[in-house]
Amino acid sequence: MNENGLPFKIRRLEAKDIPAVSSIDRLVFHDPWPESAYVQELYFNPNAHYFVLQLTPAMPAHSWAERRAALASQIVGFVGVRVEMERGHISTLAIRPEWRGWGLGELLLHTALEQAIQSGARTVALEVRVSNAVAQNLYAKYDFVVVSQLRGYYADGEDAYYMRANVEGRAYHNYLQQRRALLEYRFRPQPANMT
Ligand SMILES: CC(C)(COP(=O)(O)OP(=O)(O)OC[C@H]1O[C@@H](n2cnc3c(N)ncnc32)[C@H](O)[C@@H]1OP(=O)(O)O)[C@@H](O)C(=O)NCCC(=O)NCCS
Repeated sequence: MNENGLPFKIRRLEAKDIPAVSSIDRLVFHDPWPESAYVQELYFNPNAHYFVLQLTPAMPAHSWAERRAALASQIVGFVGVRVEMERGHISTLAIRPEWRGWGLGELLLHTALEQAIQSGARTVALEVRVSNAVAQNLYAKYDFVVVSQLRGYYADGEDAYYMRANVEGRAYHNYLQQRRALLEYRFRPQPANMT
């Protein structure tokens, strides 16, 4: 457990995380980024913000090398958002398959949206495969709507939906706060079984 009582934490991407993030990228996407793309984003794009979701280590590691290996394997998802000229863009979002369905993808999207707003975004956009109903459902929950269909956007020829949300205004901020409270409730520490 970490200091918030949660079994994971979300923190900014660091160089040491790139191999773990890339391995999830290769596992999850048909057209993964090369590791150099993450290096580029991390070091050379001041408008980019990347976060990883890391499980809190349960066991103390004995050496630095062991600790590094343990930490890398405990990264279960990541998200990226770029913000330029009041426009945010979700560049990537992924959760390892075995960790899906627990609200962690939503938590990462939420983190990216909060970052975008903090960086001055009034809108946030993204591209998603037309076949990716799961991700579209998640985005719809945060008011993303399909603005257009991008023909043959992906390397394998599939189209993308270009989706956008208006993140400006008190009502949206309140909505984010409500969602955050619900997610925190969902992730609250469970009392130990009293048998
Ligand atoms: C998209 C992704 C990040 C969602 O992560 P996740 O942790 O499984 O999602 P969550 O558990 O946080 O669910 C959030 C919402 O997503 C939608 N969703 C999740 N699983 C779903 C499923 N099996 N069927 C339909 N909708 C689903 C729901 O709207 C859900 O909200 P709800 O819990 O109120 O129903 C994850 O499926 C993933 O990594 N997919 C592969 C990579 C990808 O497609 N990335 C997006 C690229 S644009």
